Amino acid sequence: MVSDLEEVAEIGPIPEAWTRRDLLGLEELSAEEITLVLDSAERFKATAGRGRKVPVLADKTCVNLFFENSTRTKTSFSLAARRLGAATVDFTASTSSLSKGESFIDTAKNIEAMGIDAVIVRHRTPGAPRLLAQQLDCPVINAGDGPHEHPTQGLLDILTIRQRRGRIKGLTVALVGDIAHSRTARSNIWGLQKLGAHVIVCGPSTLVSRRWEELGVEVSYSLDDIVPRCDVLNLLRIQFERQFTRPFPSVREYAHLYAMNQRRLAKAKDDILIMAPGPINRGVEVTPDVADGPHSAILEQVANGLAVRMAVLWLTIGSGK
Ligand code: CP
Repeated sequence: MVSDLEEVAEIGPIPEAWTRRDLLGLEELSAEEITLVLDSAERFKATAGRGRKVPVLADKTCVNLFFENSTRTKTSFSLAARRLGAATVDFTASTSSLSKGESFIDTAKNIEAMGIDAVIVRHRTPGAPRLLAQQLDCPVINAGDGPHEHPTQGLLDILTIRQRRGRIKGLTVALVGDIAHSRTARSNIWGLQKLGAHVIVCGPSTLVSRRWEELGVEVSYSLDDIVPRCDVLNLLRIQFERQFTRPFPSVREYAHLYAMNQRRLAKAKDDILIMAPGPINRGVEVTPDVADGPHSAILEQVANGLAVRMAVLWLTIGSGK
């Protein structure tokens, strides 16, 4: 029988190299900080994988402040907090006093006044988590701000690649699909490039501007052209809810040109890794046989999300910055 104290000792102290109170994006993290989070997540995964709790955040409380819907991110932040011994409170925007005209900042400040230890925020407006971090005294974790960043998604994607391929440096990783609206794309680009990957963004020209080259990535409009040289394909969802005009003539045409299917898989490297942040539109970005096939790491990404979020909560709340 392993006691809680022995489990805490196994995780050890927070590394001195972690100096941040908040996690707002991967753009501002160094390669060393990204690696520190990934290494911490590996340790939590090994511990949690043996069915053990790691109550390093006992008596702490996190608030899920989600102004947009979520399945994976919200659930895994709640589970991560619980496995660390912390309590979680879910804020539901639609039933809150926002409907009476209370502002976003006033809402957050009132919740903080109840004595919470961290805010996990998802908002449709880019920069909303940074604004909150400037206003609050507790750690703020960005769970997705419009099309800007989704840092824990970027971290869990990179962790999945590192676990499967043993490295990031030198790999060719393509982000395929709705790049224009994707916070996951931006966080992946920052994180992967800092760790030495070659990143390609690929999709229709209405969703992939040439201006992405300014971030140091390669731009492609043909999935067929790039598939043979990719080590990883991360298939991003078409965000129909964010489109004001139709980005392509039809979903059928998009699927014809950009869905990962068996025909394209046959031209890929033998060990190609198929990923998707989810939710997926089956048959649009990826056919079901590929999404559920042997090259797919989609559910491993979800499992790694729990470990990454445990690491992020531990580093941000636990360091008491
Ligand atoms: N990948 C992701 O962020 O999923 P949710 O929107 O379900 O959280």
